[in-house]
Amino acid sequence: MKSIIETCTNNENLNMPIMIFGWIKKTRKLGSIIFLDVYDISGFVQVFVDEKNKFYNEIYSTPKETLVSIKGTLKNRKSINNEVPSGHVEIILESFNIISLSKNTPFLIQDETDGLEEIRLKYRYLDLRRSSMQKNIILRSNLIQNIREYLHRKEMIEIETPILTKPTVEGANGYMVPLKDNLFFSLAQSPQIYKQLLMVSGFMKYFQIAKCFRDENLRLDRQPEFTQLDIELSLVNEEYIFNFVEGLLKNVFLKTIGVDLKTPFRRMNFDDAMELYGNDKPNLGYGYEIFNCTRHFENNTIFSDLISKGKVFKAILVNDFLINNTDLKKIEKFAKDNGAKSLISCVFDKKIVDGSLEGKVDDQIIKNIFDENKFKSGTLFIDFNDGFTSNKILGAIRNATIDILKIEPEARFNFVWIVNWPLFEFSKEENRYVSVHHPFTSPVEEDSGKSTKDFHEARARSYDIVLNGFEIGGGSIRITNNEIQKKVFEVLKINEDTYKKEFGFLLEAFEYGVPPHGGIAIGLDRLLMLITNSNSIRDVIAFPKSSSGTDLMMNSPSKVTK
Ligand code: AMO
Repeated sequence: MKSIIETCTNNENLNMPIMIFGWIKKTRKLGSIIFLDVYDISGFVQVFVDEKNKFYNEIYSTPKETLVSIKGTLKNRKSINNEVPSGHVEIILESFNIISLSKNTPFLIQDETDGLEEIRLKYRYLDLRRSSMQKNIILRSNLIQNIREYLHRKEMIEIETPILTKPTVEGANGYMVPLKDNLFFSLAQSPQIYKQLLMVSGFMKYFQIAKCFRDENLRLDRQPEFTQLDIELSLVNEEYIFNFVEGLLKNVFLKTIGVDLKTPFRRMNFDDAMELYGNDKPNLGYGYEIFNCTRHFENNTIFSDLISKGKVFKAILVNDFLINNTDLKKIEKFAKDNGAKSLISCVFDKKIVDGSLEGKVDDQIIKNIFDENKFKSGTLFIDFNDGFTSNKILGAIRNATIDILKIEPEARFNFVWIVNWPLFEFSKEENRYVSVHHPFTSPVEEDSGKSTKDFHEARARSYDIVLNGFEIGGGSIRITNNEIQKKVFEVLKINEDTYKKEFGFLLEAFEYGVPPHGGIAIGLDRLLMLITNSNSIRDVIAFPKSSSGTDLMMNSPSKVTK
């Protein structure tokens, strides 16, 4: 069966009788004639119906979204529409058949739909008829095909690993699959342990397009089930993996969307990302770096005491943007909700034009900051706090400002590798150290000899890849030395009984000639969300869960029946 566009753009069909199948998109009556747009996944074509045609009345009253077959003659059109592939032709209707009638749809089946997300998810099969959704799903299919082709060319081996498994290591809550006798499987949070075992087996170059399951707080870039491009390689170091991933992304971006990425990608230390952007996934499509301006306040008697106790003034300037009062209020509220207690904001255009400075800070100080930094105009945000908190607050303000003002980035795709991570971080809730990545991440060589007492300060051989402010992937070189692995468990306060029970098989596997190895997993849904410029990860998944983690179409999860 040929698609509408294949049939209607084939010159051999011009002035010939043809037949197409499709859904009615739009019906227009102009005087005594009717124009009908009939579409399928390839696009649509205009059908011309003269009032003398015996189907005239019937076709006019056929509801939109009804599936029809159309017989007629393909003709060149008088008024050409160059915007669409079939815009130069139309079908002169001879006859038509209703194949399957449509009820009135609950929302408009078109790109600019009136359907809110909830109703679109309830009737997802109709939502997926909209051309913008179909484009996303087709792009997804192409991207995955191009990834597979590239990786097979690089002699990677695609291996499926189990979904039904044990509770694993990624730090999220897992999903339980209850069995009889009080036993359960866990759904895989990632193939992490299996892919490491495959390295012990000698496969050397593994990949998988893997479904992963995590029960965590949902956000616009998170789903409870999602897809990773999972990779593991033997006998490699960080450089090899960076090159490998850059080569892969360069190739598939070019093939899938025709964009030639500039490689190598930037690299940034975790500490610098936190200092400059207050964020471990900075969006480098923008400047607005955080800077320290404490010295301008040192002589001020109100602050000098607190400054000597370690408090600092940090700031960002959104240059060239004189933020209006309404937006400023929104940003300030956002900052307060994020813990900013002493935020100063100030709109400056050669002189202070507006701001919430009154009674707080001498205008001269602000002028000095502008002069010293050669700032001409813009909006300045200053926070007074301990350095770490200020960075976080200003980082959040930076992101909120970019969002609220809809500031265009310098480039469409801004990649950066975040490197030199700490191995552990302290979790106040759990009152213990936890892994920043996962417990199989190797410390850097210089730190692996640290005594158990100091080991929590070790730095990691891990990396994240960030695109436009979203973490699209993460990975590491792994621990293959069981003594180091045990030291990690010790810092994590996982006792010997527990780790032997949970991970004993992995430690044992490493006693049979394990090659050094490392890898990465890239979140394909997130990557696609950014490639398609979608507002949410849900727009690139055929049947996603809603923002509260439910399937609105099937009405699940549901109660267990007897
Ligand atoms: P990590 O947990 O960082 O690493 O996951 C890798 C990437 O998977 C994507 N991702 C998600 N996407 C959508 N919804 C979610 N809930 C979700 N959680 C994660 C992100 C993330 O960067 N085993 C390690 C990888 C390794 O070390 O090789 C892992 O899973 O884009």
